[in-house]
Amino acid sequence: MRSSYPINIQTALPLQLDHQATTPCDKEVLASMSPYWDKYWGNASSKQNKSGITAAAAVSLAREELASCLKVEPSRIIFTSGATESNNLALIGHARAVSQELGKPGHIITLETEHHAVLDPLRQLRKEGFRLTELRPDSNGILTTDQLRNALQDDTFLVSIMIANNEIGVIQPIKDLASICREKGITFHSDAAQAFGHIDLDPFEMGIDLMSINAHKLYGPKGIGALFINPGLKIMPLQWGGGQEQGIRPGTLPVPLIVGFAKAAKIAMKDISARQKKIKVLRNELLKGLEERIPKLLINGTLERRLPQNLNITLPDTLGSQLHKNLRPLISCSSGSACSLGEPSHVLKSIGRSTAQAEASIRLSLGKETNSETIKDAINIIEYIFLKVKRNKEESKI
Ligand SMILES: Cc1ncc(COP(=O)(O)O)c(C=O)c1O
Repeated sequence: MRSSYPINIQTALPLQLDHQATTPCDKEVLASMSPYWDKYWGNASSKQNKSGITAAAAVSLAREELASCLKVEPSRIIFTSGATESNNLALIGHARAVSQELGKPGHIITLETEHHAVLDPLRQLRKEGFRLTELRPDSNGILTTDQLRNALQDDTFLVSIMIANNEIGVIQPIKDLASICREKGITFHSDAAQAFGHIDLDPFEMGIDLMSINAHKLYGPKGIGALFINPGLKIMPLQWGGGQEQGIRPGTLPVPLIVGFAKAAKIAMKDISARQKKIKVLRNELLKGLEERIPKLLINGTLERRLPQNLNITLPDTLGSQLHKNLRPLISCSSGSACSLGEPSHVLKSIGRSTAQAEASIRLSLGKETNSETIKDAINIIEYIFLKVKRNKEESKI
């Protein structure tokens, strides 16, 4: 494999640079989950038997650990199957509860560049009679407080703005945006799937009322997430059953996944700033190398307020389809959100990129196992593929 490319590659292919899509499960996380599959396999709701009590105790401890990572009360954490479900539960559950109380649907504000796990439930609410404003951020990907203030209407009751973008990694000024909502008694929801475990989060201090998180972006298992709910906030459940999770999200709890989630969060919090410092140095090396080799390279989204693990670039004069086809065997990266079904990125289009530019863009996302060899290889590979794809494009014009 390596010898078929005229470049020196030092590490195993494909290079793993798609950690914002998901992360491998940490070995310590796997070990923490292991006994809960077969040894302690009880149902956490069966408190009349010993194995149920053991399972319930594990869930309770995990809830406490997760809550302490967010500096909130454990009872404020509701386990779900992931950030998609947390977003749906927060947005649809809260909107329906409020409209039932007021007797009519009101107005909701979000950002055009949100993940589809926020946009789609909100568009579903629009079909149910709610009015929805989708704000366009500036060309850096950032929403200003003035934009939010100007979009408020008399009956705005819910605002949903993500902490960090999954494609371009930009971090919104959440505290400022949330405080505008707090002043007016408007509920503020934030999708923190990309931020939790990667940057410090304190929903109470940030003024967030509802916050969605998951485990698989921070070296935890897939299929588990949580919703933080501020006290007093009304949520109508989206499903009904055995009353688990305060009746807000009933269903038998996946004890091993919950234990693994808490373990992953605990590990992530331990070295958050050292890890991010190291990753930022590598990300900046990657950017510098690519800028030196590829003239007119475009960076998507501001570098000022950004997750250290993210780089999103547009390669000039290349056809997106050719670029991604050629990169695929060499680098695991992304042409947009992992869930975007091959459409040109709505995020890149929202910040002003053309369809062709959006298609010729790549998201490179680093993980804790990324090292400088991976970075050097990535620079060599991307330059090599860029030159090849560019040449093909020029030759096809002749
Ligand atoms: C910002 C954001 N929100 C929501 C999700 C969906 O999370 P989950 O896979 O846990 O449903 C993702 C995952 O890609 C994401 O990046």
